[in-house]
Amino acid sequence: MTQINNSDTKSESNNYTDTYTTRYGRKYNAATNYLLPMDEGDRSSSSIRRVYRDHQTPIKEQLEKGISVLDSACGAGAHWTLTMKEQYPNCVYTGVDISNVFPAEKYSSVNFVMGNISKRIPAPDESFDFAFQKLLGLAFTREEWDSNLKELYRVLKHGGYVELSEIYAVSACNTGPLMDQVMNAFKTISKSKAIIVDKAPYELEHLLTKAGFTNPMVIIRNMPLNHGEHGKLYWKCMRAAYEILRPQFAQVYPEWNEVSFFEDFLNSAEEECSDTKCYYEWKICYAQK
Ligand SMILES: C[S@@+](CC[C@H](N)C(=O)[O-])C[C@H]1O[C@@H](n2cnc3c(N)ncnc32)[C@H](O)[C@@H]1O
Repeated sequence: MTQINNSDTKSESNNYTDTYTTRYGRKYNAATNYLLPMDEGDRSSSSIRRVYRDHQTPIKEQLEKGISVLDSACGAGAHWTLTMKEQYPNCVYTGVDISNVFPAEKYSSVNFVMGNISKRIPAPDESFDFAFQKLLGLAFTREEWDSNLKELYRVLKHGGYVELSEIYAVSACNTGPLMDQVMNAFKTISKSKAIIVDKAPYELEHLLTKAGFTNPMVIIRNMPLNHGEHGKLYWKCMRAAYEILRPQFAQVYPEWNEVSFFEDFLNSAEEECSDTKCYYEWKICYAQK
């Protein structure tokens, strides 16, 4: 890895502009099947985006010296980029997202650019030493996963690292009958859009190897829902996501069209989660080019 100049930015100009459709009274990016709206209130403290903002790739020394870092699909608020910048101020950061959800504030050595990461990451070949990508499980078809990983390979320097961080959002463990319904609704709506939320996260290391990366390392973290350490916070995050998805879930369970019915249902599911010790698995996989 080569050390970089702080004024270095790695994005390239591109013709990408974001377009939207309105469904269920919310704004969705028209260029993707991503299940969540772009106005999803990520700025709320309950957002899952604020969870696991660390990284596992063993490159602390390089990050401290200063390297070129990509936050692929950085999301509203770009929480990971900004947390990393605080911790490793000598790096130069590029955050890419398909929607213009970037922080309004300008930061030195941080560049945000719109782009579709499953088509072309808006950066020249071999631009980055480290590429991080978290929570795209609700966005990609199998073909999109393949082309996204090819793109990540292209923009990484030789010897650079990629890290993927994904939750198995449709496959919680130790579910009771109520959470089974949530999982069923989740699976049905993702399948209808060919999004492989139930499979791809299990296969991250194989997808990475297929794209040319070497030595994939896997770390699994458990994310308890409404029990154990941080369980209340994790439940709050997931509940916020289920509430956003309610109009889509209601295609499977029409009674969930009624907000108060669904809220009562989630109150019961919350209790069920602590009784059954329900949890999600969160998979982190890093590999090298
Ligand atoms: C759940 S958020 C995760 C954000 C961020 N990585 C985090 O963990 O805080 C998913 C983000 O991916 C973006 N996204 C979805 N499909 C995309 C695509 N094809 N190209 C670029 N960004 C995409 C969405 O706009 C959204 O901001």
